[in-house]
Amino acid sequence: MSGLFDNQQQGMQQIGMLRGSGLHGYALETSSGCGPTMMVQGKECVNFISNSYLGFSTHPKVIESVKLAVAKYGMGIGGSPLACGTSDLHNKLCERLAANYGKEDAILFASGYQALLGTIQGLMRRGDVALLDNLDHRSIIDGCALAGCKLRSFKHNDMADLADLLERTSKAGPRRLLVVDSVYSMDGDVAKLDEIVPLCRQADVAVMIDEAHSLGVMGKTGKGVLEHFEMDPSTVGFVSGTFSKFAGAVGGFTAADREFIDFLRHFSSPLVFSASLPPLVVAAVLASFDLLEQEPEWLERLWKNVAFMFDGLNNLGLDTADSTTPCIPIMVGDTEKVLRMNLDLLKEGVYCSPVVHPGVPLRKERLRLGVMASHSQAHLEKALDGIAKVAKKHELI
Ligand SMILES: Cc1ncc(COP(=O)(O)O)c(C=O)c1O
Repeated sequence: MSGLFDNQQQGMQQIGMLRGSGLHGYALETSSGCGPTMMVQGKECVNFISNSYLGFSTHPKVIESVKLAVAKYGMGIGGSPLACGTSDLHNKLCERLAANYGKEDAILFASGYQALLGTIQGLMRRGDVALLDNLDHRSIIDGCALAGCKLRSFKHNDMADLADLLERTSKAGPRRLLVVDSVYSMDGDVAKLDEIVPLCRQADVAVMIDEAHSLGVMGKTGKGVLEHFEMDPSTVGFVSGTFSKFAGAVGGFTAADREFIDFLRHFSSPLVFSASLPPLVVAAVLASFDLLEQEPEWLERLWKNVAFMFDGLNNLGLDTADSTTPCIPIMVGDTEKVLRMNLDLLKEGVYCSPVVHPGVPLRKERLRLGVMASHSQAHLEKALDGIAKVAKKHELI
């Protein structure tokens, strides 16, 4: 056993220093639901740390459907999808997802991370080549490692670099798959899918998208990035995503042609060897889809709030990078400053994410805000006041 922990030493020293300096503001204890405000270490704060953009996880209709599901199915389902983990609710959700993305079928995973991991592992083999945007989510990179395929990346959202990469890898492997986030989780900008897809089609490369921050957010009715660009769903082969953002719940999915989904159902390790989502979670996600259809005002409110926050932050002179979505970075560019600002914001009753290296490149450290549809005008104004005060104190403005 000796030596097993050696390569963890440096990381643990860094964490120890962070704790020692009193700047460790991560995993703070909360004691409320994930609403527009949250109780953080006993203090009520406006919640800007979550990805529950629509705020559905505390919506009364979602809670009611969860109660009904618990009464009927109990807590968990007690097995993986191939065993006893495929209920009528699971199948209904798969149908809904397939219809949302114009695909033949869909499959559910225990998390969004597992959906990306398990889909890439199922699709790719040793020798195949994955083409990734260099800001793709970690689950995509880990999926490539699990598949054992080659990984090549292009500069973030840079179409000239992608064209070059497509050219350079044209003989690199038997099969190539391009995987991009639809909306980038740390930068909040949107993949240029309307340019990526034609380039890939020309190069005979299949396309997969990660809809984590896009489902329920992008497009006129929240169907995602394909609706946003008014693109034909058949132009993208594989769509994965998560329920942790759109529904504020947990779980992930992949939608694609029936044949491929059936293959994954039997051969994707993170799916086959993991327990199925509890029916109560599936019921919550189904209720969230109902809300998206029946109460479109949430999506409207979300984008109204997003516009208000961009106006407020940019009027303060803060740099929100290229974000155009509810995931808004405030660029700071210094680790210690980000951590100190985060703690000062908590004192102002504003709870957001301090993002530092290796989550983002060095000198790109930032505070990250997740705007919610359920934030009131008063919540947003309180946040902007707090941000202005703290940004001035730390000479960001
Ligand atoms: C872009 C992206 N993909 C995938 C995931 C994984 O989703 P989940 O948290 O549901 O596992 C996340 C969440 O952090 C994400 O931001």
